[in-house]
Amino acid sequence: MPIDLSTIKGTVAIIPAAGIGERVGANKPKQYLTIGGRTILGLTLDKFLNFDPVELVVIVVSPNDQYLANLRYIENAKIVVIDGGNERVESVNNALSYLFDNGLPDDTAVMIHDAARPCVTHEDMVRLIETFNQNQKACFLALPVADTLQQLDDEQRVLGPLDRRNIVRALTPQMARFADFKHAVESAVINKLPITDDVSALVAAGQDVQMVIGRADNIKITVADDLALAEFYLRQQQVV
Ligand code: CTP
Ligand code: MG
Repeated sequence: MPIDLSTIKGTVAIIPAAGIGERVGANKPKQYLTIGGRTILGLTLDKFLNFDPVELVVIVVSPNDQYLANLRYIENAKIVVIDGGNERVESVNNALSYLFDNGLPDDTAVMIHDAARPCVTHEDMVRLIETFNQNQKACFLALPVADTLQQLDDEQRVLGPLDRRNIVRALTPQMARFADFKHAVESAVINKLPITDDVSALVAAGQDVQMVIGRADNIKITVADDLALAEFYLRQQQVV
């Protein structure tokens, strides 16, 4: 159903949740596994529904999704659900196209956040949005790297260390002006760039992006062991 987004003044959140969770290797996509009785997607969604600046949440799910309808809160006027694609970048692109087709103003602030990061905190979201509002340019949560990083060649031979002072781990949310994300992510899809986050698309499109140091508990649930760690953090946050 077409809706008019031209009057939106607040922030729009996009939550890509159309992956299959191959590396976790469970019997369903990882965003539908539960922690303390709640689905990972539901936990993530709650963080955005409870964040005042967010006026609309676009959840991107697989066209074959069988689980979303059972989610608590899904019947919420702030939520729209759209179909994703085979790659994360295509899922995000579908969300941005939906927003464009429904008249979202170019200057709207957009936050993109992995469904697989349910431990994101209010504190980090506030710091990110404040940075965005202050500088009026794209920004993202990131973390310095603690381990030594060894570069390998194609035969797994060790070539030597990378300078970790010049490297950060890119977390989400990642934030930019709507028109900037739209242009950058669309170009990434057209040019088949092998990217796994949205800052990569912004940078490839020549955008200046600022990092905001995030909290270490904002992990992406990627392998099965991450579930116990996420549960630990969510209990610490008294979320579950
Ligand atoms: N995602 C998406 N559409 C895709 C692939 C991924 O919306 N085609 C979403 C995932 O649901 C997840 C986020 O992007 O919330 C980050 O991706 P990742 O951690 O790689 O999740 P999966 O692709 O599901 O996991 P895997 O790569 O292990 O299959
Ligand atoms: Mg993936």
